[in-house]
Amino acid sequence: MQFQPTEEQMAVLQTARDFAQREVLPKAAEIDREHRHPTELVKRMAELGFLGIAVPEQYGGAGFDNLSYALVMEEISRACASTGVICSVNNSLVCDPIMRFGTEAQKQEWLTPLASGKLLGCFALSEPEAGSDAAAQKTTAEKVGDEWVINGTKNWITNGPVADVCVLFTMNDKAAGHKGITAFILPMKTKGVKTGPPDDKMGIRGSKSSQIYLDDVRLPESLLLGDVGGGFRVAMSTLDGGRIGIAAQALGIGRAALEDSLAYAQQRRTMGKPIVQHQAIAFKLADMATELDAARLLIHRAAWLKDNKHPYGKEAAMAKLYASDVANRAAREAIQIFGGNGYVTEFPVERHFRDAKITEIYEGTSEIQRLVISGYLAKGG
Ligand code: CAA
Repeated sequence: MQFQPTEEQMAVLQTARDFAQREVLPKAAEIDREHRHPTELVKRMAELGFLGIAVPEQYGGAGFDNLSYALVMEEISRACASTGVICSVNNSLVCDPIMRFGTEAQKQEWLTPLASGKLLGCFALSEPEAGSDAAAQKTTAEKVGDEWVINGTKNWITNGPVADVCVLFTMNDKAAGHKGITAFILPMKTKGVKTGPPDDKMGIRGSKSSQIYLDDVRLPESLLLGDVGGGFRVAMSTLDGGRIGIAAQALGIGRAALEDSLAYAQQRRTMGKPIVQHQAIAFKLADMATELDAARLLIHRAAWLKDNKHPYGKEAAMAKLYASDVANRAAREAIQIFGGNGYVTEFPVERHFRDAKITEIYEGTSEIQRLVISGYLAKGG
């Protein structure tokens, strides 16, 4: 068993840590306060190769692996969870499915600019009435002559208002259930595509999300992603990888809660000593550190399995379920350690608390992760 990252992974980690601490962290509070999409940080992530981390260099990516992706996600999200999810969506929900299901021409035309950060992507599966029940797609795709005509509404689409390209899911044969779902690569400038106002969110406020309205959008056959009727498999297998990224985002948020609490507990004094010397506080920190380490091991195992071409859906779901739970607990305890100071925006932990919550919801709620995990158990997996 190998617990030591390779030299290359250590180098990626160091680059990500330097970037996160020097360039991202100083802006995190302002990005949150202003609900600002951090354009300049997205540009820097592109320069550093962080928008296509596990994409081969021949397609514009950095040519690293999924463990490196998890390491980068943890570091960036430790500084700013909004910047983290922008990175995560482009890597795992957009580049990854185009790399696995795209044709060579699609990889040249779309993956290469997406992985190098010339374009930014979004992933449109959720709808007003299809969230956890992803197979209940209502957006229609109808073949008319040589074109597909698409109508419908997508919901909560992370990067939606700022994306150039969308991996889109539609229903082209309702009677076939999930076998009637078809995926497309949708250029966001296509006639008939509109985005709604950005969602006014509790946390990750620098990450723009919105509805996407599709009104008689016409796409050529060349923008089909995968097979007609094969879209559900594209979506589900993509989310397996996405869950590693969100687990790593949760870990980063939880680590921020721990590190900020530890620093505060060492300087804040009550009853004649720093509060870290009160066992009630020290034990909270010990539990946070232990749980975060356990989450990290689950995440690295899932990423390692993906890198080594083993099945990893169950392990990715476990990593996301546990890491998001741990992040929320760590953020809640951080507020308790900060006391009154934890409840005001002058200190960062209320942001961690608000940012942590979404990790239990998007890319499959914690309840869906339990469904996925128990599904594997029932099948003997
Ligand atoms: N990989 C490949 N295929 C898969 C798969 C996977 N991980 N999981 C299921 N499938 C296949 C099954 O093999 C099955 O295929 P066959 O019919 O050919 O045998 C088919 O898909 C249907 O499987 P299920 O019966 O298990 O499907 P279901 O309808 O019961 O749904 C679910 C399962 C787990 C509940 C699924 O709907 C799900 O994951 N829901 C949550 C959706 C989600 O995570 N949404 C997040 C939106 S994106 C987002 O959040 C982005 C963001 O903002 C950052």
